[in-house]
Amino acid sequence: MAKNNSFFSSIKNAIHSEDAVYNTSNNDSFDQVLERARVSRRGFLKGGSSLAAASVLGMGLALGTDSLKKGGSQAVASTRSLSFSPVAKNIADTLTVPPGYTAQVLLATGDPLKANVTPYKNDGTDNDFDVRAGDHHDAMHYFGLNRAGNGWDPNGTDRALLAINHEVCEDVGFVHPNGPTDYGPENTNARPTVEIDKEVAAHGVTIVEIVKQGNTYEINRNSRFNTRVTAATRCQITGPARRSAMMVTAFSPSGEQTRGTLNNCANGYTPWGTYLTCEENWAGYFHRREEDSARTANEVASFKRYGIGNATSGRYNWSRPGANDRTDMYRRWDTSKTGARPQQDFRNVANTFGWVVEIDPFNPNAMPQKRTAIGRFAHEGCWAAPAVAGQSLTFYSGDDARNEYIFKFVSAAKWDPRDANRGMAAGDKYLNEGTLYAAKFNDDGSGEWLPLTLSNPAIANYADYDFADEADVLINARIAADAAGATKMDRPEWGGVSPVNGEVYFTLTNNVSSSSGRGVRTALDAANPRYFADDKDGKVSSGNVNGHIIRWREAGDNHTATRFTWDVYLFGARSTADANVNLSGLTEENAFSSPDGLWFSEAVPGLLWLQTDDGYMTNTSNCMMLAALPGRVGDGGPKTVLNKSVPINNNADQAVQTYVGQEASPTVLRRFLVGPRDCEITGITESPDGKAIFVNIQHPGENSTSAYDPTQFTSHWPDGGNARPRSATVIITRNDGGTIAV
Ligand code: FEO
Ligand code: CA
Ligand code: CA
Ligand code: CA
Repeated sequence: MAKNNSFFSSIKNAIHSEDAVYNTSNNDSFDQVLERARVSRRGFLKGGSSLAAASVLGMGLALGTDSLKKGGSQAVASTRSLSFSPVAKNIADTLTVPPGYTAQVLLATGDPLKANVTPYKNDGTDNDFDVRAGDHHDAMHYFGLNRAGNGWDPNGTDRALLAINHEVCEDVGFVHPNGPTDYGPENTNARPTVEIDKEVAAHGVTIVEIVKQGNTYEINRNSRFNTRVTAATRCQITGPARRSAMMVTAFSPSGEQTRGTLNNCANGYTPWGTYLTCEENWAGYFHRREEDSARTANEVASFKRYGIGNATSGRYNWSRPGANDRTDMYRRWDTSKTGARPQQDFRNVANTFGWVVEIDPFNPNAMPQKRTAIGRFAHEGCWAAPAVAGQSLTFYSGDDARNEYIFKFVSAAKWDPRDANRGMAAGDKYLNEGTLYAAKFNDDGSGEWLPLTLSNPAIANYADYDFADEADVLINARIAADAAGATKMDRPEWGGVSPVNGEVYFTLTNNVSSSSGRGVRTALDAANPRYFADDKDGKVSSGNVNGHIIRWREAGDNHTATRFTWDVYLFGARSTADANVNLSGLTEENAFSSPDGLWFSEAVPGLLWLQTDDGYMTNTSNCMMLAALPGRVGDGGPKTVLNKSVPINNNADQAVQTYVGQEASPTVLRRFLVGPRDCEITGITESPDGKAIFVNIQHPGENSTSAYDPTQFTSHWPDGGNARPRSATVIITRNDGGTIAV
């Protein structure tokens, strides 16, 4: 049962599918106009129209701050300042917060959700994850409970429901007594169903009630709301792909349902108080062993574009339980054609994953709804623009894989503030019909949204894939975006809309690969302008190693617009890097790499949180969280990046013109937290008074080389001693009871 380093590294290489690349299209860029947007937080919560006056900026890229008229809310942001001492980079196995702050673990992997469930032993023997917190905590959201305790109050501080994503079940196998029996590739023994069932149940979402105690919160284990959604929960398929022939399975011959939600990464929340959990690296879970000739040309093209090869077993080998168990609960992970008809097998099952899934936290009996109108890809998250009465709603989404796209969905229905408490019925109204767009970032700093529909001739007449209908366009949204000509990005992760000025921010975590990385095989462009080599203690990585954060302002201050103006808010870098790499002037107090989580506080308009999922700067610091007070599109200006020895340019230097926001001094960007070893910091939410924030520490010790030998663990956080490391939600408060960060 002993594992060695090469075993673990080969597993990790095989299963981290976001590191793979499946975009072989030729898309790049062209040209257009500019503008900007603004709506307040109250507009989002109450559906009101507190639109501040818009200022028209004129043409071209003369976006100096002098040309920007400042509205009232902008003035609010500019008077804020960060009030905490920056946390130093460090590689200690501990969670570091600023002096005067306290971080406490609220809910870790395996912790009970019910009063009658035993404490988690953390030795691999607890098998009842359906009544425990899942693993790999990722995005989460705080939903205040009203005084009656039966519905949503956006301003409720005394009681609340936390909705927490559990992206995966960690790969080391800490949830099993002696590690996994075998995640193995082909020719391995079948897996014990007890292990598969536990891993399936450790995925999904936790809903848990929290209650205020002093200036912090505790879990209410007697709450009727506490529940789990897992990779086995029955889900409804809604929107245009419902009842599509491409969704038919033996589980649902009518194509109306599927079982489970998977790889729940980032999230979103709606103006009607429901949770959106998003399916990211689902493709790696499926077994498919068949000749491509067994499938149609369209099916093979789709499998290739989403990364489901014809000789794969899935990251945990879930389709292969003990020989006596071939029930659908396991067979459903096999997306090969094994029966005579699609109603007899699971050839289409992969089409039922990759969606935004709506969950009503206030109604534990409501079935999760897969919203197919928002498209199928490696959904990082789904973030709403402020709801404006009488206007369509807009949701932004990113596809996290190298060279993939940024999307937005615009609802057909216009927002009626009376829907703010209608739960899933409002979801049915706004999320099942609308237009999905993909983003094109032009080299002149303008951008446009390309509609993904058969009425777009580039899609209807696409030579590389023959779309059957609008459902097919959504199921294969990646291919539709290829056809439309969207811009390949450096791995889109989280997005967010500034409550101060309506500008939209998206993290692009990095793009490094000898086979497809930026500047190596994928051309540089203005929106993805960097190629450089970074030396991490002798290991050299090349491409966009540290990532960046792009932002844009929609035309006419309207999130439903089809034109926008962009710049790069921040470039990640070592503070010691060359000026052509450290383009944002980062210092020791705010140097970061691989931005992933990004979230605008609503309690403190103008405060932006950034979180990292990094493997490049980790010789100098564990992953971290930073607080920022961003400016606006155009507050810096045009800049020429000189990239050295770019492979795609015959190893010659290549100058790329881009647009960079103002330099980020520690006054406006400052490190707030550093996590324990080998973790990712991801997921953040807050109490409505801004006095408590909730942050997730994901997979501390993920590079451990044994599941049971403590000397081989790289972290023992949070329990310490010889304990197996666990993911956890932490709650951070100020010792003086004040507002966090400012
Ligand atoms: Fe699950 Fe792209 O992070
Ligand atoms: Ca992420
Ligand atoms: Ca990431
Ligand atoms: Ca992770």
